Amino acid sequence: MTADATAAAFTRAYGHAPDGVWAAPGRVNLIGEYTDVNEGFVLPFALPHAVRVAAAPRADGRLRLHFGDDPAGPTELSGVDLTPGHTKGRPAYPAGVLWALRESGHTAGGADLHLDSDVPPGAGLSSSAAVECAVALALDALYGLDLPRPELARICRLAENAFVGVPCGIMDQTASACCLAGHALHLDTRDLTSRHIPFDPEGAGLRLLVVETRVKHSLADGAYAARRAGCEAGARALGVRALRDIPHEELDSALGRLPDPGVRALVRHVVTENARVREVVGHLEAGRPRAVGPVLTAGHASLRDDFAVSCPELDLAVAVANEAGALGARMTGAGFGGSAVVLAEAGDAAAVTRAVRDSFAAAGHREPAVFAAVPADGARRVA
Ligand code: GLA
Repeated sequence: MTADATAAAFTRAYGHAPDGVWAAPGRVNLIGEYTDVNEGFVLPFALPHAVRVAAAPRADGRLRLHFGDDPAGPTELSGVDLTPGHTKGRPAYPAGVLWALRESGHTAGGADLHLDSDVPPGAGLSSSAAVECAVALALDALYGLDLPRPELARICRLAENAFVGVPCGIMDQTASACCLAGHALHLDTRDLTSRHIPFDPEGAGLRLLVVETRVKHSLADGAYAARRAGCEAGARALGVRALRDIPHEELDSALGRLPDPGVRALVRHVVTENARVREVVGHLEAGRPRAVGPVLTAGHASLRDDFAVSCPELDLAVAVANEAGALGARMTGAGFGGSAVVLAEAGDAAAVTRAVRDSFAAAGHREPAVFAAVPADGARRVA
């Protein structure tokens, strides 16, 4: 799908041309899971897969939305539809962004929007954040707001938390808004400072495979909120603002002060995961991309055994990829389905892919989709 095709679809839907087309990508998180809801560190990179939004301003303050695959005409939202709790489903994401911009004190009028996406939905690759960031960037340009990228990401997260009603952290929106091709984004989710860390698997003779399990287990939503609440209970019990404040060297003494084994396991994951992010950044900066592999696998074990957010399909993908010669693998994103990432030598990628596919067939799981991810640019104007 091209920017021109998105512009043409806009013109068909609305009978006039758009002012421009903006794109924002999905993401893969290399390491740092459930650390953003503990004010910790993450290391995502942007995918080449993106949401494209063709847009034109409207003087009447209304929002008209048309989605790529919808045979019906545009949906029109105004007044109460543009306040939290009144708009559900797909329209809630763009509507939430307009609401969050206005709520944050920015003067944004209405818009006609046409949205196309090639980010696989429900795959743990942040298709929602991509929608939010593409819409935010389009509105930012239409209304000459010129907001810094971290502020756009904050607005998109506000839309998702308060308008869509998903209690996510800031990682996905920041990745979609701020990433750079050939790099992963080392983000401190407390003060929102970030650094671009060179990450070019193909250039190093490696492949970073994304294995979409094509399953999403139904407990995902409540379980995410429950993990967050458990982490907050841990921070309270330890007398810190967030688990980010427990240094790795103090983990054992902290665990000794936590009577609840469930909370102990959550705390162990978050503290060791922050250390793993630092370790991976160190390997990448020192030019040792192969050394990242075992850290990914250790991260998976922690998410599976301590944080308990994996599932049989993800565990199988990780175990089989490693048995077939991968350097390392782990689930990525919130878990309970979605995708795994696998780091492998380029020459081993085909055999690893085949082994994972065969194991899914043998276990009676749906056939996974596997692709090699190349770190791409964050949100941008494309026409
Ligand atoms: C989802 C959320 C993120 C983050 C991850 C887990 O992707 O949107 O904010 O919490 O889960 O690391």
